[in-house]
Amino acid sequence: MPRAKIVSVAGVVPPKVVTNYDLEKMIETSNDWIVERTGIHQRHIAEKGVTTSDLCYEAAEKCLAQAKVDAKDVDLIIVATITPDMLLPATACLVQKRLGCNKAWGFDMSIACCGFIYALQVGGEFIKSGAHKNVLVIGLDVMSSIIDFTDRQTCIIFGDGGGAVLLQPNDEKDNEDVGLIDFIFEVDGNGGDSLCLPAGGSKMPATQETVEQKQHYVKQDGKVVFKYATRKMPELCVQILERNGLTGDDVDVFIPHQANLRIITSAAERMKMPMEKVIVNIGEFGNTTAGTLPLAMHSALKEGRLKKGDLVLFASIGAGFSAGALLMRWGY
Ligand code: UT7
Repeated sequence: MPRAKIVSVAGVVPPKVVTNYDLEKMIETSNDWIVERTGIHQRHIAEKGVTTSDLCYEAAEKCLAQAKVDAKDVDLIIVATITPDMLLPATACLVQKRLGCNKAWGFDMSIACCGFIYALQVGGEFIKSGAHKNVLVIGLDVMSSIIDFTDRQTCIIFGDGGGAVLLQPNDEKDNEDVGLIDFIFEVDGNGGDSLCLPAGGSKMPATQETVEQKQHYVKQDGKVVFKYATRKMPELCVQILERNGLTGDDVDVFIPHQANLRIITSAAERMKMPMEKVIVNIGEFGNTTAGTLPLAMHSALKEGRLKKGDLVLFASIGAGFSAGALLMRWGY
């Protein structure tokens, strides 16, 4: 069975930039504190009325154009997001209609920061099985729609944006190792309360009270999530490398979820991986939840840091708790 490989990547962010200095005017915080504790300098924030499907469409259109693949040839669209335009229909359906992917089916994947990495593997399985030839995997969030900009615990870290990739079967006879190699995914529901959005679901449908109590915004116990992330990210990375007979030395590029620079550097240190191999763009974009990995790939490609044949290690940690590491041989 051929491996699934990424043949195109497109990243998008809304144009408006909100700097730490802008946040200083809104909440009790400082640029120095945010930079020191998170590594973030700025984030992009969507204008009112700009939706997740708008940005997904933009990313997907660019992604298909780069790959020279017609929208009508797309078989499946998976949208990883926790900020769908609406609870139903799925954002994948809105994107399918706008792109004109007449024969595609699709669905949304809602697992926060691990959304993209999980969707990538699921999309890859449909390629590997032979069922599909073109799978669009989109990871994107408009976090500003669910963030309380008076809560300094959360509003300083999140941003809007993401990207799309196109998966195809690797039919290169002399490059059979290109594509998705292995994954380790886990969830731990014990962490559920540490990062959640309490209202708007069946547990707490929207009422005047839920709105007044700001229950429709993300709540985070930052310290608890931080501890889990700094432990789990290197643990899964080492595990996936070991079971493939590899070490950190074999990895050419490490693409971690961008939640906090301290989580990234601590994972790299524990794997004894020099920061030159690590893609970091959190300073520019903040934490875009399901959007960080495609945005990071986009940055890496733009900087010429991802090349054909590179062994790439992805890792993500987030709400749920959910965690994942994925290995891939880059193909273009
Ligand atoms: O992608 C989803 C997964 N999420 C994550 O991975 C996030 C993980 N957590 C984090 O990144 C960090 O916990 C935060 C960036 C959210 C917070 O950083 P921290 O170093 O854990 O800060 P803290 O909550 O322990 O607060 C330390 C101090 C406190 O003051 P005292 O009690 O020591 O006097 C806070 O009140 O910093 C204060 N503080 C702030 N000060 C200025 C908390 N937030 C801010 C702020 N500006 N925005």
